[in-house]
Amino acid sequence: MEQNKDLNQFDIPLAKRTYTNNRNSILLKKLLITAPFLLIIFSMTALRLIRNIEVGPLSNLKFQVEKNQDNRILGHLPYNEIPQEKLVLIEPNVEVHIDMRDSLLNMREEAKRDGVYLVFLSGYRSINLQNDIFYSLKSIRNQEASERARVSAPPGYSEHSTGFAIDIGDATKRETDFETEFENTDAFRWLIKNAAKFHFKLSFARDNKYIDYEPWHWRYEGSIEALKVFESSNRKL
Ligand code: DAL
Ligand code: ZN
Repeated sequence: MEQNKDLNQFDIPLAKRTYTNNRNSILLKKLLITAPFLLIIFSMTALRLIRNIEVGPLSNLKFQVEKNQDNRILGHLPYNEIPQEKLVLIEPNVEVHIDMRDSLLNMREEAKRDGVYLVFLSGYRSINLQNDIFYSLKSIRNQEASERARVSAPPGYSEHSTGFAIDIGDATKRETDFETEFENTDAFRWLIKNAAKFHFKLSFARDNKYIDYEPWHWRYEGSIEALKVFESSNRKL
């Protein structure tokens, strides 16, 4: 009672003063513990903001340059035209790169021995011819360039101009020439099983991002020159 009397002179009840002191010290402890974490979070956020402002646009640009460094147009890579002296005629209207002639003819012979009859539909095409195909057919079919590019390369961008590409049909199923149904022929089944032995590879598989599936279109990769030509195409982006 005596004690309370003394304390009353400060106008603060004992219980209340003790409680206030405890609460303040707890708050202070909490602040001291969380302050370093808050500081770290604050610094990290600030750093991220600075990086986005200063580095963000630059790294986006770098990514875009890397993505476009193979110079694709509408999904097609650029190809030089084969020098005339490297072209050989393998049958009327079908010329190919001399490097792939023997392999191509051997492949047809082996298929024949297995009772499968391959027919060569289109080999080398000049850039001029590709120009006519791309622009004339595009306008006849009333298609925009991007639509047309899903089935035909723009001039200067066709594997056919390198002499290393060949379109193949089944001699017993000519109605499937240049059609997706070609995949249901004996010729296609035979090619899928055997073409790699002769260094041929399907260029435009079903899952191709830019160009429609072309089961008839094969390219030769059996020489260093051919591998160089198709290096960008084989490199995954
Ligand atoms: N049909 C293929 C894409 C070409 O024109 O080369
Ligand atoms: Zn083709």
